[in-house]
Amino acid sequence: MAGRSKNILQEFQPGERREEPLSALFHENSKLTPERKLELGMRIAQVQNNPDLLRRMTCSYKSYPHQPQIALPVARLGTVPPLDEIILGRRSARQFETTKSVTLGELSNLLQLSYGITGSLELGSGIIQYLRATPSAGGLYPLEIYVLAQRVEGLDPGLYHYRVAHHALEQIERGDQGARLRQSESDWGMISTAAVDLFIGAVFDRVLFKYRERGYRFLLTEAGMLAQSLTLLGECQGVRSCVMSGWIDDEVNDMLHLDGRSEGVLLALCLGK
Ligand SMILES: Cc1cc2nc3c(=O)[nH]c(=O)nc-3n(C[C@H](O)[C@H](O)[C@H](O)COP(=O)(O)O)c2cc1C
Repeated sequence: MAGRSKNILQEFQPGERREEPLSALFHENSKLTPERKLELGMRIAQVQNNPDLLRRMTCSYKSYPHQPQIALPVARLGTVPPLDEIILGRRSARQFETTKSVTLGELSNLLQLSYGITGSLELGSGIIQYLRATPSAGGLYPLEIYVLAQRVEGLDPGLYHYRVAHHALEQIERGDQGARLRQSESDWGMISTAAVDLFIGAVFDRVLFKYRERGYRFLLTEAGMLAQSLTLLGECQGVRSCVMSGWIDDEVNDMLHLDGRSEGVLLALCLGK
């Protein structure tokens, strides 16, 4: 194993067979070493002192301005079971009742209370940073949520994007968009029977421009945090879920119209009752 502060990429000669798996290479190269910490500190100071970069940092909002927009009700969870009961009772659910739907209110609660705007911060030079319900390294919010609605009361079946700043859904495609995924081997009945599938994508450069390789760790961490928030918010409302990881990346990226390079899907969650 490479030494702590070494870049293990440099330890291989061209043409030499690499024994290290890619994950070890990535882990080693995204470690914070004293040298990289210094470099990162300089980069962070550079961003903080540059209004253009600061503004860029606050623009974590993808939108589809020409697509129909569906307003979501303000999140209201009401009385829910105690958190310890929710956590102790949570189990992944892989089959859902195809006669039962999720309501638009329940979907709205899921989205707003997991990744919606919950506060703001003045960064100087009149630049406002909006803060979200899930933590994000440096407040960069690299994630985007896509909603594949199959049985949502008050919402036509279709593919939507969660427009955070408006707390609304933008309709990307109408009708049943999941057919391709359901035919693939990755469906163990979860996609077929779920009332709604949520796909979490990441706009990589939102984080990598500041944190470089280490930023990729942050993306994955944040997707996990967001997924747990969604899972527990679902459980609070009787909406069960399962993280699903066996899909073919490019099939899902194609379905979501993502190029898979500047933005790609990281995680999927099937939900229903
Ligand atoms: C990153 C991740 C990926 C997962 N992928 C799948 C999956 O593709 N299919 C599946 O049936 N369950 C999947 N799960 C659910 C796990 O199998 C499940 O959490 C685990 O068996 C523990 O059971 P529990 O969630 O009911 O406590 C995934 C969970 C995580 C966190």
